[in-house]
Amino acid sequence: MSAWDMIKTIFFGGLTFLFFFVIWIYNPFIHRVEYEVPSQMEDIINDSKAALQGRELFKTMCASCHSVRYDGIYLMSVASKPEFKNVLEKFGTLIRVDEKTKEKVMFLSRDVYEAVAMNDLLMLKSSFGKIPPDLSTIYLSRGAGYLYNFILNPQKVLPGTSMPPVMTGQEENTAKIVSYLRSVSEPSKAEKAKRTVMGIVVIAYFVAMGVLLWIWRKKLLAKMGYGQ
Ligand code: HEC
Repeated sequence: MSAWDMIKTIFFGGLTFLFFFVIWIYNPFIHRVEYEVPSQMEDIINDSKAALQGRELFKTMCASCHSVRYDGIYLMSVASKPEFKNVLEKFGTLIRVDEKTKEKVMFLSRDVYEAVAMNDLLMLKSSFGKIPPDLSTIYLSRGAGYLYNFILNPQKVLPGTSMPPVMTGQEENTAKIVSYLRSVSEPSKAEKAKRTVMGIVVIAYFVAMGVLLWIWRKKLLAKMGYGQ
């Protein structure tokens, strides 16, 4: 290997390393703000039983303004309309049947839901200047620390926001609600384990195929009179 080849190898090797380092390990271009969560509350956020209680809390404390369409929660004022049941039956997709209440949890696509809920959503817009967002995937974009602090004290995290402080002083219930939002966006532990196994199987398959192809290539080359 000449000196020039060596320099090229080191240069491009270094670039490749830097690329994956920025993508996987530390990206200096991302603006990071860490929000503190007491460790006791963190345990609640990661507890799947707390998520079930959080769902009930969400229905009473938040569903007057927010929906979670991916988990069949719709604005209270919309869900209580008699015709809404028909819309769910006709256009909804069954997510699951609740074990305890036997309630059918139905998903409704955004266009259909917004058409039915239009008046209620516009009323919220005229009161708050903005339609309170659907919270199905908010955990993925904001994370636990942000959500816990925001829900507990919106003004502190997002000064000037029109979201009212509805959970002031209720740390534990707030953590349960965050746990619920987490459970909607994140796969369950069993599902996560299944995906890990699948990942390992796929990589093992590629490695095995690679080895077989390599052996096959050697045999072909030998047949053609090369590689002895
Ligand atoms: C009276 C109406 C109302 C209630 C009740 C309410 N919210 Fe909100 N919420 C809003 C509005 C309005 C916004 C949009 C605020 C903005 O963008 O400034 C919002 C925004 C949010 C956001 C998004 C913040 C972001 O960074 O984009 C989250 C998360 C949230 N609310 C969670 C909750 C939870 C959890 C509850 C129940 C404990 C709740 N809200 C109860 C009106 C409400």
